[in-house]
Amino acid sequence: MINFHVLTLFPEMIMQGINTSITGRAMEKGYININAVNIRDFSNDKHNHVDDYPYGGGAGMIMQPEPIYKAYKSITDGVEGQPRVIYLTPQGKVFNQAMAEEFAGEKELIFLCGHYEGVDERVLEMIVTDYVSIGDFVLTGGELPAMVMIDAISRKVEGVLGNDISSEIETFYDNLLEYPQYTRPEEFMGMRVPDILLSGHHGNIEKWRREKSLERTLKNRPDLLENANLDKSDIEYLSKLKKK
Ligand code: ADE
Repeated sequence: MINFHVLTLFPEMIMQGINTSITGRAMEKGYININAVNIRDFSNDKHNHVDDYPYGGGAGMIMQPEPIYKAYKSITDGVEGQPRVIYLTPQGKVFNQAMAEEFAGEKELIFLCGHYEGVDERVLEMIVTDYVSIGDFVLTGGELPAMVMIDAISRKVEGVLGNDISSEIETFYDNLLEYPQYTRPEEFMGMRVPDILLSGHHGNIEKWRREKSLERTLKNRPDLLENANLDKSDIEYLSKLKKK
């Protein structure tokens, strides 16, 4: 069970995004819980403003520290300990599967979604423990990145995937990309399923799948191979591929 708290100006976006499919079922079954907190509810002024002009000039508006701090306190006053606070920003450490697995071990996680041109630095210094980016591109706000992270973390929470969907052997297992998969029919528009998958020979199938994983990783993500968990025969196969 993990409690996700999201500090956001668009709580309905978070709730609607997580409420479907596997994460929706995980919420229903109580494996995960989502608490989207509207920062605007903690505004100080009568027009519910939460942003203002940047000191020193420049384009755009900056989110003010006080509403964010109060929204944060409204969460932490109700939980034990000091939960990690993740600020979604393209300036953060790039999210990956190992981080998803690490965060899945927490009981409470707080996400702070920025908007406009940024967030006042003082509140970030005060509450944020982890600066995380979901990739080298700029989005309009932190909600989609928060949902991406919540989805990836939820898959690693016990019970969420059920027994029929394994998260053991999948892409990034051993830091390799996954092998190709096929289902019926045996022939589709003249393209046949590889014979080896119909052979029933488990040893050969395993070997074939491992080789396909290695081929794909070398072709599409050679950077992953540096930290891949490879045995002697993997290394031999890769050097054969590189010679081709
Ligand atoms: N906010 C805007 N762009 C982002 C990104 N790439 N990752 C995380 N948060 C963001």
